[in-house]
Amino acid sequence: MILQAEGVRKLYGEFCALDGVSLAIAPGEFVSIIGPNGAGKSTLINVLTGVLRPSAGTVRFKERDIRGIGPVALARLGMARSFQLVPIFPDLTVLETLQAAVVSRLGRGTRLFASLRGDREVQEGALEVAELFGLGGKQHALAKELPQGDKKLLDVASAFALRPEIILLDEPTSGVSTADKTVIMEILVSASRRIGIRAILQVEHDMDIVFGYSDRIIALHQGRVLADAPPAEIRADARVVDMVIGRRHLPRAGSPPPPSSPPAGERAG
Ligand SMILES: Nc1ncnc2c1ncn2[C@@H]1O[C@H](COP(=O)(O)OP(=O)(O)O)[C@@H](O)[C@H]1O
Ligand SMILES: [Mg+2]
Repeated sequence: MILQAEGVRKLYGEFCALDGVSLAIAPGEFVSIIGPNGAGKSTLINVLTGVLRPSAGTVRFKERDIRGIGPVALARLGMARSFQLVPIFPDLTVLETLQAAVVSRLGRGTRLFASLRGDREVQEGALEVAELFGLGGKQHALAKELPQGDKKLLDVASAFALRPEIILLDEPTSGVSTADKTVIMEILVSASRRIGIRAILQVEHDMDIVFGYSDRIIALHQGRVLADAPPAEIRADARVVDMVIGRRHLPRAGSPPPPSSPPAGERAG
């Protein structure tokens, strides 16, 4: 197991947001966390990424206790996350945003920022990720001026630029069109293969995406794991379908991922 949580409990004052949550992610897995609003999905991601310390229970990454370790230290160990709030640095360009991620991966702190332009490793690393994510032609655009789909891509790309072994994504496709969602997922999966990311854990609402891409689905409900199983079993679990997914949102069995529209701009080829 690369990432493992056992008996995780998280209290906000009196309120119990996570209650006895256990899960394990193995190398090679693509796992989705689903659940209604307030189920505790974001809290769980924050606990798994060391942003929040659990009130009880353990969280281990590569056999190391990472409770409350914080995202910077965790990125050094090989776990990266994307943030729901994008862009993180609205006044930076696409390339500068990715350079900042590469600089942080290389562990050179902010000193290097002054000489960013001269550093080939940073330049090339950032450009490589920009191209991998179809943002090469927009490298000089300001992050804040990108269309929503590209903002999401830049957010995910920044996490990839850290070259993590595992990546955690909180709703990577929220607020973008269905066509753009599929583009983002296709890029995510192919970029993971190229860079050699060992596992992906995402929170996702769109059931076409969840059922189209996941090896395993974890359904959260009121802070507890209601089910943890491959898509075919989740589909057959009446409780999960009724309480978490909603029958009308369940994609038809065997239906492929939503059709991928031609990627915008220079993404092709
Ligand atoms: N900082 C906080 N303080 C108090 N309650 C919180 C805090 N963050 C989240 N909650 C509550 O915990 C529950 C789970 O929240 P969250 O993890 O954001 O759920 P989800 O991402 O599944 O929508 C919700 O009821 C939410 O109101
Ligand atoms: Mg959330």
